[in-house]
Amino acid sequence: MLTILFLGDVVGESGRSAVIARLPELKKEYAVDFIIVNGENAAAGRGITPKITIDLLRAGVSVVTTGDHIWDRKEIVPFIETEPRLLRPLNYPAGAPGAGTVVLETPKGKVGVINVQGRTFMQPILENPFPMLDAAVNTMRAETSVIVVDAHGETTSEKIAIGRYLDGRVSAVLGTHTHVQTADEQIFENGTAFICDAGMCGPVRSILGREIEPIVGRFISNLPVAFPVAHGEARLRGVLVEVDESTGRAHCIRRLDEPGPRRDELPA
Ligand SMILES: [Fe+2]
Repeated sequence: MLTILFLGDVVGESGRSAVIARLPELKKEYAVDFIIVNGENAAAGRGITPKITIDLLRAGVSVVTTGDHIWDRKEIVPFIETEPRLLRPLNYPAGAPGAGTVVLETPKGKVGVINVQGRTFMQPILENPFPMLDAAVNTMRAETSVIVVDAHGETTSEKIAIGRYLDGRVSAVLGTHTHVQTADEQIFENGTAFICDAGMCGPVRSILGREIEPIVGRFISNLPVAFPVAHGEARLRGVLVEVDESTGRAHCIRRLDEPGPRRDELPA
């Protein structure tokens, strides 16, 4: 059995520090073989930098997935061409920098990861993900049947549709983007693990990782204001998926909601 740890959107410095500090312990505690983290909000809530990507990879992350904020930091454009473990959504038009898929070797065999972005209530509206997933999954299955899809999207319906569409062809379809962990984790009939949203790794006293007061004020006044990333106590949310590496079928999916590091575990 191959155990995959998948962590939802890492938000800002508090999310990053929490993931980096707790990853070695989580890896050991749950006997994790492969770690996927959605990092698109890791740089002050918008985008990801080359340095943050490298920090996450050094901390033990196998693949960093992203979504609609992938290009928010300009320096990521040349960097993504040099780092295959950083994915952008698969369904960009042909010619976009980087890739939406990667296959990596592990001691238990190859693991494939696909990053796709939904189109409902999302900007930019990318290509239709369904035919692009067909092509990517078909290509990848020639190499491995252990395949995890990060479905980055706003609506539960679109993410469930992607999960149902791929049931039996991939090991897991795991949602990101809404920052709120859903309680619908399950294994579909043909062996694909699913959850609508893995949740956020970031500050607890916040609105989706941002300071509460400006967001509430914006809803009241409708006036434009800055939305700084919140700080303070963080929690790590995600899922653990156990996959039979010989068939690619998921055997179990379990939600995680872990405390951030203790004060003495944080870097000075
Ligand atoms: Fe997003």
